Amino acid sequence: MNLDDIYSETIMDHSQSPRNYGHLDQPAKIAGLRNPTCGDQIILELTIEGDVITDIRFSGKGCSISIASASMLTQAIRGKKIRDALTFSSNFKASITGGNSNVDLGEMEALRGVSQFPNRVKCASLSINALEKAINEYSDGI
Ligand code: FES
Repeated sequence: MNLDDIYSETIMDHSQSPRNYGHLDQPAKIAGLRNPTCGDQIILELTIEGDVITDIRFSGKGCSISIASASMLTQAIRGKKIRDALTFSSNFKASITGGNSNVDLGEMEALRGVSQFPNRVKCASLSINALEKAINEYSDGI
């Protein structure tokens, strides 16, 4: 697989027209992470009711893969229980690091190919790591 093969129609669509880009009026939690390799940053804002992530937005800047990943993540996570979001997160990370993950990741399946490109793994996992940070900080605060 060449690096160019990663840039599927799905990834290009989400990077050019990111879903859920922007801000929430009253987020329960905001968390951002920076990719130390390039300095790009993704910030997530979550609304949480009970144990359900009822809404999510992202902002920041990054490469096509990081933006597409964040865009797809917001769609995948909205409406999920916190524990299910964390399970999704670990399954996704396993899938992009060559681990054994047979779980259906929905549109985020499009990112499995980055497992062969370690630098791109950091791009694809930026938003998911921000999600884990947000959930952990939120859980510590309640
Ligand atoms: Fe910076 Fe991908 S090159 S997040």
